[in-house]
Amino acid sequence: MKAEISASIRSAELYWDAAADSYDKDFSGTSVGIVRRDAVWLDLQRVFHSGQRILELSCGTGIDAMFLAHRGVRILAFDLSPRMIAIAQARAARELLPNPPEFRVLATEHLSTLEREGPFDGAFANFAGLNCVDDLSQVADTLGRLLKPKSRLLLCMMGRFVPLEILWFLARRNPRKAFQRLRESRTSYASTTGLVIHRPTVRQITRQMKPALRLVGWKGIGIVVPPSYAEHVARKFPHVIQHLAKVDRRIGPIPLFKNMADCVLLEFERVNYTRGI
Ligand SMILES: C[S@@+](CC[C@H](N)C(=O)[O-])C[C@H]1O[C@@H](n2cnc3c(N)ncnc32)[C@H](O)[C@@H]1O
Repeated sequence: MKAEISASIRSAELYWDAAADSYDKDFSGTSVGIVRRDAVWLDLQRVFHSGQRILELSCGTGIDAMFLAHRGVRILAFDLSPRMIAIAQARAARELLPNPPEFRVLATEHLSTLEREGPFDGAFANFAGLNCVDDLSQVADTLGRLLKPKSRLLLCMMGRFVPLEILWFLARRNPRKAFQRLRESRTSYASTTGLVIHRPTVRQITRQMKPALRLVGWKGIGIVVPPSYAEHVARKFPHVIQHLAKVDRRIGPIPLFKNMADCVLLEFERVNYTRGI
């Protein structure tokens, strides 16, 4: 079992290392990537404050860590991809800050190795980092030991039912892709790219976070703003994207709409939890 986990971490590492150099161009720097991240930043700013010590899981190229560090938040950020971490460290070296984030290579599956460095005032994982992890219960259990009581955890994960995506791929005569998320709770590309994607529903995530973490609220992101694979179309209509981003922000917390989003942003509270301490 341990050997299996190590092998899957190793192949995920190779996949993300290969994706790292173009990640900012292909996602974070796209017009749709920017408005999506802006929507998450509203909540990062609301929840985490200057002087707090916050843990970031699967930090990628470090954009969110830098965003919070510029606001006086102390960040320990990690990712399993050494190349992602090298890019994040180069970013921190360029943007001179009195308290730059600390970036480390670490797989979420090995989160418990940080236990001596807690407790933290909060934690977050943005844009599907935890969709790459098999056992969310284990992550939640460890976070229960790493986080202070009443502290917050923000998780931005993949939505499961995305009408916009269904329409996009049906219009391209690709019904397999159109309904893939809805149909498959887990997709393994292990034999080709090494990537395995898990797509738990909000209810399943909430259940797996218990008993250490309690859901206090959630919203949808990317209900009318198209996903990044539609960037070539989106780029031609920047004003439309800005307008759609406003609509998205307004309808994101509404129950009917938040169930139709490309991403879901969940806010958890670390409850008074003593198991394992
Ligand atoms: C879609 S990217 C998101 C990156 C970043 N959070 C952002 O908002 O741009 C997913 C990230 O998860 C990382 N990742 C995937 N599996 C992981 C694992 N098991 N442990 C730690 N990081 C992982 C990848 O290396 C990648 O940087």
